[in-house]
Amino acid sequence: MTNPSKIKILPEDLTNKIAAGEVVDRPASVAKELVENSIDAGASEITIIIKDGGKALLQVVDNGTGMSQSDLLLAFQRHTTSKIFTYDDLTQIKTLGFRGEALASIASVSHVEAKSVFQGESSGHSIRIEGGIMNGLEACGGNPGTSVAVKNLFYNTPARRKFLRATSTEYRQILTVLNRFFIGHPESAFTLINEGEIIMELKPDSLENRIGATLGSRLQKNLIAIQNEGYIKISGFVGNQDTMRSSRGDQYLYFNRRYFSNKSLNYAVLSAYGEILPRGYYPFYMIFIEMPPEQADVNVHPTKMEIKFANDAFVFSSVRSTVKRALTSTAVIPELQPYRDPDTLPASVPAAQQSQLEFGHAPQTASVPKWPDPPSAEEMPLSSRQPAVRIYQKREVYERTNVWQVHSKYIISQIKSGLIIIDQHVAHERILYEQALENFEKRKPASQQLLFPQVLELSAEDYSLLLDIIPFLERIGFVIKAFGKNTIAVEGVPSGIKIHNDEKILLDILDEYKREKKQTVDLRDSVAKSFACHTAIRAGEPLTLEAMNALIDQLFSTREPYFCPHGRPVIVNLSLEELDRRFRRH
Ligand SMILES: Nc1ncnc2c1ncn2[C@@H]1O[C@H](COP(=O)(O)OP(=O)(O)OP(=O)(O)O)[C@@H](O)[C@H]1O
Ligand SMILES: [Mg+2]
Repeated sequence: MTNPSKIKILPEDLTNKIAAGEVVDRPASVAKELVENSIDAGASEITIIIKDGGKALLQVVDNGTGMSQSDLLLAFQRHTTSKIFTYDDLTQIKTLGFRGEALASIASVSHVEAKSVFQGESSGHSIRIEGGIMNGLEACGGNPGTSVAVKNLFYNTPARRKFLRATSTEYRQILTVLNRFFIGHPESAFTLINEGEIIMELKPDSLENRIGATLGSRLQKNLIAIQNEGYIKISGFVGNQDTMRSSRGDQYLYFNRRYFSNKSLNYAVLSAYGEILPRGYYPFYMIFIEMPPEQADVNVHPTKMEIKFANDAFVFSSVRSTVKRALTSTAVIPELQPYRDPDTLPASVPAAQQSQLEFGHAPQTASVPKWPDPPSAEEMPLSSRQPAVRIYQKREVYERTNVWQVHSKYIISQIKSGLIIIDQHVAHERILYEQALENFEKRKPASQQLLFPQVLELSAEDYSLLLDIIPFLERIGFVIKAFGKNTIAVEGVPSGIKIHNDEKILLDILDEYKREKKQTVDLRDSVAKSFACHTAIRAGEPLTLEAMNALIDQLFSTREPYFCPHGRPVIVNLSLEELDRRFRRH
């Protein structure tokens, strides 16, 4: 006797719901699919209407090509699409949709009312679909275009409905998805209506203005354009230091206008920022990548959120170098906050910001001869450097008589366009960091002998870590000898720097190196940063005029004078224009 078969062919109603589970997991994914369809239909005006976070209603109305009566009926069935016909088409996709699945999936788990008027016609048709079952086809009037209203999402899949979050959470998710379209399609007009109220009305605009209208004018003021022509075309914007946030969020990548996410390209952008980016911070960016469609497979993810490039490494390096080029040739230095009338300052302005706004204490000249001058500029060979294009050319940087130290921590100097304020500690850190990197290449570093060699007993872990970096420390000028088990003797330290605490300097460097090691795999970089951080002059140290001049001279001879190796700003620029505005001269 044969055993009964356990395998059954599932009913279509069930397979539709299973498929819907992949395509639609919350109202935001409905928004994504409907807006994609409108864009594919060539719409120049798209309206999104939301009720109860999209749970009660999510409607998208467009002025695109519209559908004929037969297409309207076909559109909600599975595997029906006007976008591809053959396998070859799948490698040449120029539309956002291609699977012929979205509308069928959505319709199987909701109540849909759709209406479409074909382009050039004055009347069209409407249909109602409940849980995938078509209920009524009627003639209707109206302007060309399509409206799809999705109501009571997941009404017939209670398990899914239960997982929907609070209205406000779902609404925010929809906004996140919509922002990607708003920014990716600045040539289209969008209107967003929530609970009957117009939330956004975006007219066709330049990309820059659209970013501002979508994400705020503050962001718009801090954009740096990126550009690469050729086989891979790259355009868009990255943000300067003012746009950096401690959480991910405003990062937008597009391939042939399709938004996608890609960890490796995120990393490409972050690595292009390098040390400009403070630890734990993320920059804003929106990057359009354009290449022939066959260079990427868009059919690799259930919600079309990822794509696979034929040549990952090429895209990675192109994005990285394009962003890097833009960052090094442009001012990423932040300006002071624009002036706001103190009366209108919100009570919650943080103290640090308040003091920035009240800036204007009389400068004091410090002339206490305490700190030995940093090494002269001649000690820093410049030949191997390729200085970044800077906002201030060295000659117009400052006038040697117009330099003051305030509060023993900032140096103020007049420049042609206004004034600059330099943080003495981070400025020196930048100088020492670059010097250390250069010294790694040199044979004979300058050393100063310690009168009493410092003997240090280390833990086994610290000792083995130190062994890693001793060759680099010696290149900077440390003289270190083994002195028995886990013990070393420091006999010399780099000349020309002030060691704040002979005994601890090596331990401090070692601790910093441990922290740095977690952030970067570049050993030299970690050692150079750790060294610079612990040997730079500190806030609170009075400087002579000569010391300040030497510091500024050397700072502007570095490759990246505007940021310390950890990404903190070194210089704040206050323009004459800004001063005039504050004193209401305009
Ligand atoms: N707003 C619209 N205007 C005009 N035609 C539309 C619109 N929405 C859908 N269609 C038509 O209905 C078809 C089915 O849409 P659906 O979203 O289900 O699939 P798709 O867009 O082809 O592929 P995908 O499942 O990847 O989104 C589309 O191919 C298109 O021809
Ligand atoms: Mg679609």
